[in-house]
Amino acid sequence: MPAAEPDFDALFSAAKAVQALAYAPYSRFRVGAALIADDGVVYAGCNVENAAYPSGTCAEQGAISAMIAGGGRAIMALVVYGEGEELVTPCGACRQRIREFAEADMPVAIAGPEGVRARYSLSVLLPASFGPANLRR
Ligand code: THU
Repeated sequence: MPAAEPDFDALFSAAKAVQALAYAPYSRFRVGAALIADDGVVYAGCNVENAAYPSGTCAEQGAISAMIAGGGRAIMALVVYGEGEELVTPCGACRQRIREFAEADMPVAIAGPEGVRARYSLSVLLPASFGPANLRR
């Protein structure tokens, strides 16, 4: 039986709500991310910038931290929400962070105010990736 379609409406709502709470006084570019984990819980995070610019953190990073602290261990689906003309796709470092907790076919939806704009599988965003299994010898 194929896996049930994730509840993207719930993830969209959570990502949109948390995007409004982002702390982005420097870039003024607010991002929200929401994921559904293997425990069935939706975890969300937003970007949190810092006066020492490289110390800022991405929305995806916040959502993953919330998942781990909440007891979730795997990402089943993810929505990233942001504004602007271009798609707000996860940065390279976040693709690797997501990879740690997701299978290759995990769906990543990119959303804006009008709804979901694009959908990828993780392996399209991060092909030939290095993950936990690569450490086995
Ligand atoms: N940002 C995210 O939080 N997630 C993304 O997917 C792209 C970029 C943040 C980092 C920084 O606070 C701001 O957006 C501008 O790069």
